[in-house]
Amino acid sequence: MFESIADKLKKSEKIVFVTGAGISQESGIPTFRGKDGLWRKYDAMKLATIDAFYEDPKLVWEWYEERRQNILSAKPNPGHLAIAELEKHRQVHVLTQNIDRLHQRAGSKSVYELHGSIITVKCTVCSFKGNITSSFSKLPPLCKCGNILRPDVVWFGEPLPQDVWQDAISQASSCDTMIVVGTSLVVSPANLLPVYAKQNGASIIEVNPEETPMTPSMDLSIRSSAAKALPELVPIVFPV
Ligand code: APR
Repeated sequence: MFESIADKLKKSEKIVFVTGAGISQESGIPTFRGKDGLWRKYDAMKLATIDAFYEDPKLVWEWYEERRQNILSAKPNPGHLAIAELEKHRQVHVLTQNIDRLHQRAGSKSVYELHGSIITVKCTVCSFKGNITSSFSKLPPLCKCGNILRPDVVWFGEPLPQDVWQDAISQASSCDTMIVVGTSLVVSPANLLPVYAKQNGASIIEVNPEETPMTPSMDLSIRSSAAKALPELVPIVFPV
């Protein structure tokens, strides 16, 4: 799969991965836009916007609690594990749109969560932010200050955490190889990251069973799944 750019990969000093829901699909977590995607079953505008949250915080919380249980019972798959393995041999950074923390659970140390995390909550009014360690007895949960807590995730129309976003741009702009895995590249601004990499001379590889809007710009587009393709990458970049 990677033979055609194996030499470039071997010489890569800094590899940046941009990942989306597809890398967790083989861990049993549904994607958003695929044939069985979440946005085919649920209305994103009723569950993943700040207006939807204020209109019916209990409904949004019930959906996130259901997703959180599914995510907590999921395990990293060979795709996540291959990226974590690569980090032992090269400078590797993961810019993920996923909130499932499977990269961290696979052992990746440098992970930038562009869209937040399923295990963190924040207060809608005060500055409280904290990790959820167990299920809430009552939804929506309340902060100590008495106001409603919300999932610490980025909803449609909301800005990304600025510090994380600036770091992600810096990583994308200074890598020599970018590997885009399991994302439809239709949601901005995350879909700009491969543009930054390309502008700075990086080789860009896509791993996705389907084409994306950026397929024509890729140096290599691998029509395969993350769990199949990525484990083949490690011995190429770092022949043991
Ligand atoms: N391996 C690799 N790629 C896969 C696999 C797999 N096993 N299965 C599906 N894919 C691909 C699909 O072909 C699709 O291109 O993963 C992509 C998933 O795309 P989306 O469902 O749109 O997910 P993503 O790109 O992460 O969405 C971005 O949109 O809804 C918001 O906030 C949400 O972070 C999410 C953002």
